[in-house]
Amino acid sequence: NGVFTFDPGFTSTASCESKITFIDGEVGKLLHRGYSIEELAGKSDYLEVCYTLLYGELPSAEQKEEFVSTVKNHTMVHEQIRNFFNGFRRDAHPMAIMCGVVGALSAFYHDSLDINNPQHREITAYRLIAKMPTIAAMCYKYALGQPFMYPRNDLGYAENFLHMMFGNPCEESKISPTLAKAMDRIFILHADHEQNASTSTVRLAGSSGANPFACIAAGISALWGPAHGGANEAVLNMLDEIGSIDNIETYIAKAKDKSDPFKLMGFGHRVYKNYDPRATVMRESCHEVLAELGVNDPQLELAMKLEEIALSDPYFKEKKLFPNVDFYSGIILKAIGIPTSMFTVIFALSRTVGWIAHWNEMISNPYKIGRPRQLYTGEAERPFVPVNERK
Ligand code: CMC
Repeated sequence: NGVFTFDPGFTSTASCESKITFIDGEVGKLLHRGYSIEELAGKSDYLEVCYTLLYGELPSAEQKEEFVSTVKNHTMVHEQIRNFFNGFRRDAHPMAIMCGVVGALSAFYHDSLDINNPQHREITAYRLIAKMPTIAAMCYKYALGQPFMYPRNDLGYAENFLHMMFGNPCEESKISPTLAKAMDRIFILHADHEQNASTSTVRLAGSSGANPFACIAAGISALWGPAHGGANEAVLNMLDEIGSIDNIETYIAKAKDKSDPFKLMGFGHRVYKNYDPRATVMRESCHEVLAELGVNDPQLELAMKLEEIALSDPYFKEKKLFPNVDFYSGIILKAIGIPTSMFTVIFALSRTVGWIAHWNEMISNPYKIGRPRQLYTGEAERPFVPVNERK
């Protein structure tokens, strides 16, 4: 009827129907296909969560075995992908490389880019889930100037990622089971989160019929920003900047000052007006990992104190600003030995399954091209003025 609503930032607009993930932001609940994030993080593993997000049910033992072995069949990247890296500066941000290389995967799979063919969509999902850790680790190795490590299919998903990150061809990789478990849990906690900015970007790009690799590259770009996936990197940079417990009050005051652009990174969420349940699991995991590794990290102490002071401050209480998933993830990633610049890459790697599950859900059902409207606030119609008559 020509009437449309104005909703900048989509704070109250549902853009689609979905059966994948449920969030109740008021109580701080997150379910994937009906299973709570706490149970999935405590009892499942990342590839099982991937299967569940993609297919809607937990796999049987046989289905799980088949899924894991199929994903493992796709872990290598085409040898020519290696050449891409040489075009980048060694100090390129790894997210810049990810945007380019993942988008370029579409140039390698012309045979399976028919989005209306369910088998093509399925093999694309396998390829993306399998190759993201390989490409992510290649970004790190390239920055270091070390040789790329081929994936090892005898290892678990997280173990293999750590092998490609930290192994070298001169000796057998030694991967700590504690670190591999912590890494796997981080992957689970980031696997999906319904219609966030990057997932909505993937859906919007996909709604034009664009190929899935290009859509995921669009998702990676949207994730990069500090208000979204880039927050985990920003949290550690912020903790570095705060420096010591004595400076916390100054930074809390800055965060409350509307004339200061500073925000407490890792705090606040569009949907959660209570504790982000992922942050609760991440916080516990953080303590476990540091205790098991015997690491005494002053940044964790600083983070806990910052959390305590912020949560007791009326500003944060009134605005219902709680720590989100990114508040503690950086500290665990740092303990694992992951450099700060790789944090958002790890988010992208983990979220790939969510992106592809949403893309597939959209393409498998009737959908329309996404085409938001706008509220025009520019000039009314006016006559064109020839250049020699303009003032
Ligand atoms: N520090 C200080 N004030 C804040 C913060 C913060 N971290 N977050 C929100 N506020 C204030 C904001 O200034 C606003 O105040 P007012 O009502 O006076 O204008 C009010 O709280 C509501 O915030 P908003 O920015 O309108 O809320 P939003 O839903 O548009 O933004 C957010 C949500 C996550 C982008 C924002 O809270 C933020 O920038 N947080 C820091 C970045 C961060 O941690 N992002 C990771 C999100 S979780 C991981 C993911 O899903 O990507």
